[in-house]
Amino acid sequence: MTDSLTVRDNRTGQEYDVPIVDGAIKAADLGKIRTADDEPGLAVYDPGFVNTASCRSAVTFIDGDKGILEYRGYPIEQLAEKSTFLEVAYLLVHGELPTKAEYEAWVHEITFHTFVHENVKSFMEGFRYDAHPMGMLMASVGALSTFYPDAVHISDAENRHMQIVRMIAKMPTLGAWSFRHAQGKPFVYPDNELGYTANFLSMLFKMSEQNYVADPRIVKALDTLFILHADHEQNCSANAVRSVGSSQVDPYSSVAAGIGALYGPLHGGANEAVLRMLRRIGTKDKIPAFIEGVKAGEERLMGFGHRVYKNYDPRAKIIKKACDDVFEVTGVNPLLEIAQELERIALEDEYFVKRKLYPNVDFYSGLIYEALQFPPEMFTVLFAIGRTPGWLAQWNELVQDKEQKIARPKQIYTGERGLTFTPASERWA
Ligand SMILES: CC(C)(COP(=O)(O)OP(=O)(O)OC[C@H]1O[C@@H](n2cnc3c(N)ncnc32)[C@H](O)[C@@H]1OP(=O)(O)O)[C@@H](O)C(=O)NCCC(=O)NCCS
Repeated sequence: MTDSLTVRDNRTGQEYDVPIVDGAIKAADLGKIRTADDEPGLAVYDPGFVNTASCRSAVTFIDGDKGILEYRGYPIEQLAEKSTFLEVAYLLVHGELPTKAEYEAWVHEITFHTFVHENVKSFMEGFRYDAHPMGMLMASVGALSTFYPDAVHISDAENRHMQIVRMIAKMPTLGAWSFRHAQGKPFVYPDNELGYTANFLSMLFKMSEQNYVADPRIVKALDTLFILHADHEQNCSANAVRSVGSSQVDPYSSVAAGIGALYGPLHGGANEAVLRMLRRIGTKDKIPAFIEGVKAGEERLMGFGHRVYKNYDPRAKIIKKACDDVFEVTGVNPLLEIAQELERIALEDEYFVKRKLYPNVDFYSGLIYEALQFPPEMFTVLFAIGRTPGWLAQWNELVQDKEQKIARPKQIYTGERGLTFTPASERWA
């Protein structure tokens, strides 16, 4: 067996051997296929990058058919159960698990960079009273580049480390303040005595008490949700971070682009749609009629199906378990019963079985967030905080990858050519 592809161009009758490496061919090799020396080479048309690898990456592995997700080779199930978000962040960014000393230094660094410049606070106060927290987060992260102009030195590894620490540390502060702003509540400063996730909860919910003490079960559940969202290989926002980062801009600007991508309903917003759907169904007896509507193509069962997973999304299984822990503290979200019954019926139904439609990460996460008193606008902010180490790991890999170039896709031009311009004064005369 030869690891190559033989292509015969029927326009010219010429044959080409294209090497196959790691299950892929290089698009540039296809570019050598042309009808004449002065004609453009063969291009690949792939809107949405459905079958185009944009990079080599050692960060995250997904096997969608088998329902496998691994960060740096470690299965998500083990990390969610036995690790912490900051340890997972270290793993994603550095590529391996920390020693005790490395972990303690990492936690210390992150903890002591949670504060932001007072001017950041002032400009966040300047947003409209009803500003969407995700818009505030995106703008604030982008603005951090003006506070750390040294971040442009992206080829300096120490400098990159500094910005990575800053961003992971400050994201909960900016996220919590975006939340408090809409409520007209004063911003709460970070409490460096608390762990990462407990501190985030304190900045979200503290009022006049001296210290805000979150229930440890809630802290653990939210920490687990951050782990589950920490990376997902070349998704829309990771691609945005890489694409913008390929211009060699500073990482704050790149991550702000990732937040913009995540803001969109096709990426970060499905869990909110699940809640709306469950509320609309209302009672268990209405489920069969709802399922019939879905099968008839009238609407989609939100939180089901995935572009990559054609099996149970491994993250959905873990979230289901986190639901139990959270509801033990907050009381059961009444929508849970409807969700569970909906899942049971759908998983037995031929329509969903045949199309390999299983619950995805969003099917249960909204129920938890709602039980924790988050308004739907905050759901994507939580996602962004969890995803930050993943974005930074992808960015850090990109800037060190010698094969990478500025992202600049080809197009297939469909417009006019060679028209003659008539000045407005003549056209409108
Ligand atoms: C995630 C999603 C966009 C993936 O889409 P995709 O990979 O492009 O899959 P397709 O849209 O090609 O769907 C394949 C088939 O399954 C059906 N299907 C996919 N998701 C469905 C859903 N949630 N409910 C009902 N039918 C669904 C499609 O109608 C199609 O059926 P057909 O072959 O009879 O036309 C899609 O599953 C979806 O819209 N899910 C609901 C939204 C959601 O939960 N998003 C969060 C993703 S993390």
